Amino acid sequence: MGVLRLGYLHVRETDLASARQYYGETLGLTLMNEEPGKLYFKAWDEWDHHHLVLEEGGAGLAKFGFKVSGLDELERLEKGMRNFGLETVRMSKNETLAVGQGVRAVLPSGHIMELYHDIEYAGTAVGTVNPPVRPRHLEGIGVPRLDHALLTTEDPALMERLFTEVLGFRASHRLVTELGDKGDLIATWLFTTHKSHDIAFIKGPSGKLHHFAYRVMDWSAIRHGGEILSMDNVPVAFGPDIHGLTRGQTIYFFDPSGNRNEIFSSDVETAADFPTVTWTREQIGHASYIGREVKESHFSVT
Ligand SMILES: [Fe+2]
Repeated sequence: MGVLRLGYLHVRETDLASARQYYGETLGLTLMNEEPGKLYFKAWDEWDHHHLVLEEGGAGLAKFGFKVSGLDELERLEKGMRNFGLETVRMSKNETLAVGQGVRAVLPSGHIMELYHDIEYAGTAVGTVNPPVRPRHLEGIGVPRLDHALLTTEDPALMERLFTEVLGFRASHRLVTELGDKGDLIATWLFTTHKSHDIAFIKGPSGKLHHFAYRVMDWSAIRHGGEILSMDNVPVAFGPDIHGLTRGQTIYFFDPSGNRNEIFSSDVETAADFPTVTWTREQIGHASYIGREVKESHFSVT
């Protein structure tokens, strides 16, 4: 089965106190653990112990992790990454709280990625027996779960090769300069589940975080999220609007340290045999938004 899903992100925060308030009260995440300089959060419909670790100091992405289906798969993917030219190191159980043993690598994009096969289950807020559709009382937006991340890299084509040839992902959407052999890859949306993407890479400075996104149920949840963002004076970067590319209903906004978040809903499903959808640069307006105008800051701010 290989890589199962995007499991966690470790994100840097300049001020942990304001980050705690924002992720707890605005996004509605549950604080699972805290230690000096670190906060661990999960969302209400997630099983794992956490999906987000906030680390005090700076801004941006410290590392991210994908859960894989077993130790044998971990070894197979480790070999594959080494054959691809990456250096890997083993990480031991509980090196990250609640996370089992795994493999860590610095990707050609400069990001640190971890693969692991085990994380403690904490259970969802609605349980496994006759669960209601949601908890009765949710804080703020009340996001159900982490969905995807978009990272920047100077070489999106290389990252697409790594993720498709070694890690078993497929591209659901690609954005190119032009069709045909002369076209260069600007961005690629990669999936290992049935979502439009679990991770995406867009051309830009290597090692940077563009955004990470939370899945919400539908357009009405996007509207509700917008209301909460307004109430809490959260700086909104874009939206609410709809992407042509991935048909994502979306709002982008910034956490107190300037890390970009998104609430995202999409009816697009993928499967391993589905052809890749291609978008060309001259149609980037339609690929991106109803308004068909891409703010320069959407690509320049990471
Ligand atoms: Fe997104």
